[in-house]
Amino acid sequence: MGKEKIRIGVYPGSFDPLTNGHLDIIMRASKLFDLLIVGILKNDSKQAVFTMEERVSQIERCTADLKNVKVEMFKGLLVDFVREKKAGTIVRGLRAVSDYEYELQMAMLNKHMSPEVDTIFFMTDIHNSFLSSSVIKDIAQHGGNIRGLVPDEIVDEIYAKLMVKD
Ligand SMILES: Nc1ncnc2c1ncn2[C@@H]1O[C@H](COP(=O)(O)OP(=O)(O)OP(=O)(O)O)[C@@H](O)[C@H]1O
Ligand SMILES: [Mg+2]
Repeated sequence: MGKEKIRIGVYPGSFDPLTNGHLDIIMRASKLFDLLIVGILKNDSKQAVFTMEERVSQIERCTADLKNVKVEMFKGLLVDFVREKKAGTIVRGLRAVSDYEYELQMAMLNKHMSPEVDTIFFMTDIHNSFLSSSVIKDIAQHGGNIRGLVPDEIVDEIYAKLMVKD
């Protein structure tokens, strides 16, 4: 009898910062895997507002009750990270039609590079369909209300980082 194969999924993104849209995908995806790794991409060409440590901490705090969710940082190609983690599936979310073209291209490239790995997509929850990290930063910067759009645990630190002080 062989060893039971554990199902590992990787949900990659920049999570700068985490939104309720991301959290919803994490909660739904965590039900499909024995282990779901949230992979934060360290992207040298895209300047992040929150440090890697802040982003890891935000996601860890907001997923503390999901015991099979782990947060890690990665650099370089997603397929290399996925292989290193022995994961079989990449998880992504789809909002509007505008996400589709980019996501299709990435999924096909990743399949080309790593045929044994599949990408699966979760449709956004209707309440989160208009959410992105970028719009959260825009709203917070100008003192708008981000409550209900990001997890309550991280509202204050987003304002602290972004509110324009005069
Ligand atoms: N509100 C949402 N509903 C469903 N999926 C989402 C949502 N926001 C992000 N995602 C998905 O999560 C993954 C990681 O996204 P990413 O880290 O780029 O977040 P983002 O909110 O799009 O940030 P940015 O505004 O910086 O592009 C992508 O597959 C993206 O489509
Ligand atoms: Mg995006």
